[in-house]
Amino acid sequence: TSQTVIAVDGPAAAGKGTLSRQLASHYGLNHLDTGLTYRATAKALLDRGLPLDDEELAADVALGLDLGHLDRAVLSAHEIGEAASKVAVMPKVRRALVEAQRAFAATAPGAVLDGRDIGTVVCPQALIKFYVTASPEVRARRRHDEIRASGASSDLEGILADIVKRDARDSERADSPLRPAADAHLLDTTKMSIETAFEAARILVDAAL
Ligand code: C5P
Repeated sequence: TSQTVIAVDGPAAAGKGTLSRQLASHYGLNHLDTGLTYRATAKALLDRGLPLDDEELAADVALGLDLGHLDRAVLSAHEIGEAASKVAVMPKVRRALVEAQRAFAATAPGAVLDGRDIGTVVCPQALIKFYVTASPEVRARRRHDEIRASGASSDLEGILADIVKRDARDSERADSPLRPAADAHLLDTTKMSIETAFEAARILVDAAL
């Protein structure tokens, strides 16, 4: 029998991580931030001084990844997100990571997976799908406030430029581009708090269960 899967997709800094953690905790499901799998692949290449665009090499690294040891703290750096979106355009890398993500989704008691292609490619049979979005300006502002709250300095204009660039790379790639699944529920958090988005999502999940 297949497990309960909740798919959460959307662009960078739209609030899908927070929403996914809250849903996983509320429904007692596992949670996988699939962005971390692309980030870990990119970081392993960077650490070894290897190029980011050698598909065979990057796919080997991706195949060796241990999903049980993805450390958000070391993977959250901005440059790693940028590098991740470069390795994420290569089909062999995607194939390796998607296989690991599907195995995670199939593990009891089920899971919330968040990323860019969960509803469209990784788990098209998910119980329910959400597409979380917000204007680039609001997403940049949230990321900026987060970084400053952690005590680091941050440049709002630079963050906005990076978000726009990463959106373009993720939306325009040929393999599994960022787009809402036809049957996804859209949650636009431009004017909605993440708390309100969670309440809306919870009502929809309860109805689907
Ligand atoms: O969500 P996060 O910013 O951690 O993702 C980093 C990069 O990994 C994204 O910009 C995207 O290129 C890639 N990614 C992807 N598919 C996913 C999750 C992330 O291509 N399911």
